[in-house]
Amino acid sequence: MKITEIEKGIHYVGVNDRCKYKFEGLWPLPYGVSYNAYLITDEKNVLVDTVDAAYTDRLLDNITEIIGNGTLDYLVINHMEPDHSASIQFIRQKYPQITIVGNAKTLEMVNGYYGIDSNTRCVKNGESLAIGKRNLTFYLTPMVHWPETMMTYCEADKVLFSGDAFGCFGTLDGGITDEQLNTEKYWGEMVRYYSNIVGKYGPAVQTALKKLACLEMRTICSTHGPIWKNKISKVIDIYDRLSRYEAEEGVVIAYGSMYGHTEQMAEEIARELAANGIQEIVLHNVSHDDPSYILQSIFRYRGLIIGSPTYSNKLFPAVESLTHMISTRDIKHRTFAYFGSYTWAGAAVKHLASFAESMKWDTVPCCVEMKQGITPDIKEQCRALAREMAARLKKQ
Ligand code: FEO
Repeated sequence: MKITEIEKGIHYVGVNDRCKYKFEGLWPLPYGVSYNAYLITDEKNVLVDTVDAAYTDRLLDNITEIIGNGTLDYLVINHMEPDHSASIQFIRQKYPQITIVGNAKTLEMVNGYYGIDSNTRCVKNGESLAIGKRNLTFYLTPMVHWPETMMTYCEADKVLFSGDAFGCFGTLDGGITDEQLNTEKYWGEMVRYYSNIVGKYGPAVQTALKKLACLEMRTICSTHGPIWKNKISKVIDIYDRLSRYEAEEGVVIAYGSMYGHTEQMAEEIARELAANGIQEIVLHNVSHDDPSYILQSIFRYRGLIIGSPTYSNKLFPAVESLTHMISTRDIKHRTFAYFGSYTWAGAAVKHLASFAESMKWDTVPCCVEMKQGITPDIKEQCRALAREMAARLKKQ
């Protein structure tokens, strides 16, 4: 069997992208990303999902390598975001008789994006499609992370084609499955992928996990990252914890600082956190670190401290943007503290207080507001804030 044959008759036909700089135009890709597609060869040949438009040729080549001059009977679309759907029209051109299988929302998008409204088959939740020795059953999992998202289960092989769920950034370098690859680089990239792309939709992920709980899974084929075989329970556990916004003991300090004064407050807080037994402390200078990584840290740790200078009577712009991203994801169950600075009229702390109130978090009451340079009194206030944060985290 070729390394790309995941189970007998189930083939990996996806591609690696090491060129794209930012996924969705937003999120950096230091390890690249894979767009995974799968081909099931049975009495009917079924393609599950496609790939980004830049890689259509390679997808077609991968398919031809398996079926030669044979044909494709069905294209199952689990997710319509263009990193998976952009090759649909080219598949249709090469295999004009192919039937496109999706739910009602999917097919509406197929028409909207690609002008295809014929030779389609609309499926409902729990409906099956017979393709020979196998049946494929479709489970609608809306808002993981688009409204049309669904998953496809092959009972005969106990394989779940999960769309973006259980996916991560990172190309598949040589190996395809977690048995063939060193998976170390993927775990952090899974948290970053989840927090950046799916993070807003925790309740929908929880609903999907409950729907899938009855399925026996030997293999999970996501649209990004390794095919999971021997690490399935770890992967499901990560998605379960992230979608419940469950986090580890530790503190993220995200701060803006133009000339280093607000940063001095951050340093003082960090030292005192450590002195009070917090080992996991991550400082992010918001002007330096991409928000993709700051969100990853915030999803990982229970404590969050944000610091900002006052800028044009508002928050420092990169801090304001970060609070917007946090708010959009409706991140729950965090212990929060904040601090700020100003030169002639304070506003940052006032804005952070409003942000704290809107998030409904457990908020440390002792915020610190500094005028101009740091003083022994401000240092002590920073330490008091840190002690209270550490005490609250240790109690949980
Ligand atoms: Fe990988 Fe939601 O697209």
